[in-house]
Amino acid sequence: MLTLIKDLATKLAPRLIEIRRHIHAHPELSGQEYQTAAFVSGVLSSSGLHVQEGVGKTGVLGELQGTGEDKRTLAIRTDMDALPIHERTGLDFISRTPGRMHACGHDVHTTVGLGTAMVLSQMVDELPGKVRFLFQPAEEIAQGASWMVTDGAMKNVDAILGVHVFPSIPAGSIGVRYGALTAAADDLEIVVIGESGHGARPHEAIDAIWIAAQVITTLQQAISRTQNPLRPVVLSIGQINGGRAPNVIADHVQLLGTVRSLHPETRANLPHWIDSIVASVCNSYGAKYQVNYRRGVPSVQNDYSLTQVLQAAAEEAWGSDHVQVLPEPSLGAEDFSVYLEYAPGSMFRLGVGLKDRILNYPLHHPLFDVDESAIITGVVTLAYTAYKYWQISG
Ligand code: NI
Repeated sequence: MLTLIKDLATKLAPRLIEIRRHIHAHPELSGQEYQTAAFVSGVLSSSGLHVQEGVGKTGVLGELQGTGEDKRTLAIRTDMDALPIHERTGLDFISRTPGRMHACGHDVHTTVGLGTAMVLSQMVDELPGKVRFLFQPAEEIAQGASWMVTDGAMKNVDAILGVHVFPSIPAGSIGVRYGALTAAADDLEIVVIGESGHGARPHEAIDAIWIAAQVITTLQQAISRTQNPLRPVVLSIGQINGGRAPNVIADHVQLLGTVRSLHPETRANLPHWIDSIVASVCNSYGAKYQVNYRRGVPSVQNDYSLTQVLQAAAEEAWGSDHVQVLPEPSLGAEDFSVYLEYAPGSMFRLGVGLKDRILNYPLHHPLFDVDESAIITGVVTLAYTAYKYWQISG
């Protein structure tokens, strides 16, 4: 079966590279993937899939019914959105829209999803159950997965697979990970409310800027003393707003940040922990405060048995030298985790590193580029994993 899948994928390679370049040249921002969705839907329909557009606003759902008796549904998710970045690669198929770029490889993901659908559509007799393809919008703003779930994309899904490109793994290799792959990412807003006054007479005012500085310092120090060092928490304040004039003591400072964590229990305690630290600092100096903690996406926790199937399929396809078991998670975020609240899943990292470069540009960089041979690596890995999935006892 592996030979058949590799043959089918290899035959499709020129078409898939054409597809990827087309999508790359026509990037669309999160929630605006209209042309991409129409294009995806056209390719899926011509491969004989049952297609539904407008699932999760600009998302597309494609289904392939196998001929066997298995009642299960395996989902495969790929994302489609681009970023507000001005591309500087100089490629022949460079973005035709200034200020928009597929700098996170979602053009490759979409192509890999389409390629997998095209391959599996030619071997439905070998599929015991149903495979559902989720082409998701708006991953970059961490909302598309929720939109798709709201529109029923995870209904009756028993397991889900996902993929993300990774420039520091060479093309031809993949990375799998057991357990936590990415972090939970929450938004934080802290407002410190003091009393305005003359810059020359600080004792008659309550200086919200100085107190906000104490809040930041105390939070960063407290992480190292009060959080379990084996359960990482990263808190970054990325924006400060406050103050009106150099000689006026500020009465109002807003701090905006992101909070990343890996363990659900750690995460559950963070709002209270942050609140108590902000309270202790503000109370000491007579300031009032507000803490608004908004939960974002949870951590991606890869399922053990699905990851085993993925690893075994990839090792058979590419040899164990080309399959890394990743020793560390990332504190980046990925809304694939939203699907995992409905079914177990596993997401792998697809190596796209160019072999002739020592250093590849990172994701979200205006010079980010991929080795296109990775598309076939992705398609074969997903299609063969989808073939082997049914062997897990349901
Ligand atoms: Ni991405």
